[in-house]
Amino acid sequence: VTPPIRPRPHLEGFERPGQGWPSRHDVLRLDMNEAVPGVDPDFFALVVDQLSPAVLSAYPEVDPLYDALVTSLGVSREQLVLTSGSDAGIRQVVEAFCEPGTAMVITDPTYGMYPVYAHLYGLGCVRVPFSASFSIATEDLCAAIGPDTSIVCIANPNGAIGVAHDVAQIEAVIERAAAHGALVLLDEAHIDFGEDVWASRVDELGNVVIVRTFSKAAGLAGLRLGYVLSNERVREGVYAVKPVVEVNAIAALAGRLALEHPDFRRRHVEQTREGRGWLAAQLEERGYEVRERSANFLLVRFGADHPQVMSALAERGILVREHGDHPLLGPYARVTAGPIDSMRHMVDAVDSAVSPAGSRSH
Ligand SMILES: Cc1ncc(COP(=O)(O)O)c(C=O)c1O
Repeated sequence: VTPPIRPRPHLEGFERPGQGWPSRHDVLRLDMNEAVPGVDPDFFALVVDQLSPAVLSAYPEVDPLYDALVTSLGVSREQLVLTSGSDAGIRQVVEAFCEPGTAMVITDPTYGMYPVYAHLYGLGCVRVPFSASFSIATEDLCAAIGPDTSIVCIANPNGAIGVAHDVAQIEAVIERAAAHGALVLLDEAHIDFGEDVWASRVDELGNVVIVRTFSKAAGLAGLRLGYVLSNERVREGVYAVKPVVEVNAIAALAGRLALEHPDFRRRHVEQTREGRGWLAAQLEERGYEVRERSANFLLVRFGADHPQVMSALAERGILVREHGDHPLLGPYARVTAGPIDSMRHMVDAVDSAVSPAGSRSH
């Protein structure tokens, strides 16, 4: 009799959610902080124009994308590793640098995959919560870093709560982590909406690694493209655990075109900032609390109107993110920002939910 085949013990019963929806292609996607409403049709045409049967059939050619990144960032090729989304970059960093039995320090809330990777690679996970005022004390973050810590993951700006950490706080974390031989992973998925401080310093800082993505401002979440930027020694570890070819061929092509035509990204960021400000003003005018504006989304508290607003959005095919009973985010809906035209649909749906007009209660 063949003995039952089992995964390794720490993976037994470890649940990973499925996609959970039939398709999000034909709805207004304000739930996952992708680019809204999607890539510019002119950019799409550029990509399609360069697609060919060979692009699909040959193993991916990644050199042109590395070259474009080197030019656009002003760093050396030996500081970069392409990854399948920044998500794979995070995983590769943990795999390369964190011994089982050590600890990962994260904030709460933050990007949901950090604790998953901590579990997969046998790390403990220490969570430092944001306070009710949506801030985190530098002393609390530093106090969580100790001799067991192998990595501190800071999403800056934070993709769950929208907060940007100030330079002094990150400096303190880097110093404290260095004293314990720990790496600091700065997750800059949302950096186009934040302040680009660390990329130019990563070479001089021995224990910092940055992950970035083409999923947000560049609007290419479907292609799964990101990169890791670090000093050459850290890069060696991340490169060692890469798959046979780092990224797929269409991602390599579209990523290069995105870097060669940065105006598409700039325009998207501008329009998103504008739409974010417009939406915030509209919702505040209607008496709703709106929080955090450092990334491509807003947190909105609809209060007593929450259930009606959620049904009206669902009816109109507008997706937003809810947070269940999370102690801090529970009362807020997270709404991805986009150009004013897209935000108008959101406001119309909110207005339709609350009737008769002007009789809202919170
Ligand atoms: C902070 C942060 N990091 C990483 C990711 C993963 O992005 P991707 O794997 O698409 O690059 C996200 C996605 O929402 C995020 O918000």
